[in-house]
Amino acid sequence: MRFILHTYGCQMNVRDSEAAAALLEAAGHTPVQREDDADLVIVNSCSVRAKAEDKALGKLGLLCASRRDRPERMVGLMGCMAQRLGPEIFKHVPGLDFAVGTRCAGAIPRLVARVLAGETGLLEVSDLDETPDVIKARTDTGFSVFVTILLGCDRRCAYCIVPDVRGSEYSRPAREIVAEIRALVRNGVREVTLLGQSVMNYGRANSVWEASDAPSPGGFTEPFARLLEAVATIPGLLRLRFTSGHPSGVTDQLVRACATLPAICHHLHLPVQSGSDSILARMRRGYSRADYLDAVRRLRTAMPDFALTTDVIVGFPGETSDDFEATRSLMNEADFDNAFIFKYSPRPGTPAAAWEDDVSEAEKMRRNQILLKDQDVRGVATNSRLVGTVQEVLVEGPSLRNAARWSGRSPGNKIVIFDPRPGLDPGTLARVRITRAAPQTLYGEALSC
Ligand code: SAH
Ligand code: SF4
Ligand code: F3S
Repeated sequence: MRFILHTYGCQMNVRDSEAAAALLEAAGHTPVQREDDADLVIVNSCSVRAKAEDKALGKLGLLCASRRDRPERMVGLMGCMAQRLGPEIFKHVPGLDFAVGTRCAGAIPRLVARVLAGETGLLEVSDLDETPDVIKARTDTGFSVFVTILLGCDRRCAYCIVPDVRGSEYSRPAREIVAEIRALVRNGVREVTLLGQSVMNYGRANSVWEASDAPSPGGFTEPFARLLEAVATIPGLLRLRFTSGHPSGVTDQLVRACATLPAICHHLHLPVQSGSDSILARMRRGYSRADYLDAVRRLRTAMPDFALTTDVIVGFPGETSDDFEATRSLMNEADFDNAFIFKYSPRPGTPAAAWEDDVSEAEKMRRNQILLKDQDVRGVATNSRLVGTVQEVLVEGPSLRNAARWSGRSPGNKIVIFDPRPGLDPGTLARVRITRAAPQTLYGEALSC
């Protein structure tokens, strides 16, 4: 069948969609770029906020309705929403052919075959203690890839549905990850992003090194710092990133690994959620405002060019205007390069869902707008400081807006636009002198190699 996947949610889902596509291709199906050309459409869904679920439901409704004109079209659902709702999903989406949970994407080719044989309404959700091999399935995807190293999440922040839909933490064996990345680099991959919900927890819940594994050459004893060293020193890998961070993972070893291993980009997505100690405590984030700022200070002291991005939730139950102002001031102190601001959305079954959602929608919107505006101003300021510097840019190719100019990413993960030069091919590193800064983009001139 000709198939297409629509992916909502985080990078974990992007990676899972890629694995599902690889499995479908291996089973003889063909990926297509346009939905009109597809006879199998799969939605990979996110449950993190009600709005994310509404989007997926809306899309599924349209897809099922499209079968009035093309009755042979198959519609499937994967990801967090399938896991959360289980059999109930078929009440929300009558006509859905199949739904698979977060740790059983490997079942998709089998379910597609069964639907082709005449069945419908098929469901496969696991009890989330499986560690699926599907995580290894890959298509040929260019020079920058995601590698999931940690499944699930054990933190249980009070507002968050992720532990319910992704299960408890399981760290993949370090040898398996290193072997996988070596093979990827042999096939032309130049940049790897290691994925985990709380990625620095790598190796805390289950053992990842074997007794026979040699000690770390750099003297690292913590599993995540050891893994970073093992991956960052693979010959041919130009860049290593990892996400998402948590302040408790910003240990001295982590800071030293980032500062001393040249392949590691000086950028971290370190969600703060709030700048108010009482809100942080009720969110069960496991750190205070001072702890967070201390992690930021240690990163920036060791690496003055360190770029930081974050997530913030506004309108958490009981968030007063003082709490909100504390978040505002923390964002100024931390001087974030970029920030994603979310309006609190109660998620069924989480502890916070039992508390009154007492900040009105209008007030959530107002707080959201204020933080976005602050961040725009701050984004221009942080980017302006880079004017005149030379940034090492991993070249991606023609820019989306203007194909005559090329784009790439700086170590801080900022988009950099520059004029193409012979020898600067996609997947190579260019040195670009920055001449102009916009809130989300840098412009510059590529220097001769
Ligand atoms: N594991 C990552 C975050 C995954 S969810 C981490 O902890 O760093 C991505 C972001 O969605 C979170 O950082 C948070 O800001 C936001 N989020 C999660 N649950 C939410 C909810 N119930 N309402 C609003 N935003 C939420
Ligand atoms: Fe959710 Fe917290 Fe886990 Fe992030 S760390 S996925 S916010 S429970
Ligand atoms: Fe969403 Fe699932 Fe990721 S809930 S944020 S897609 S882990």
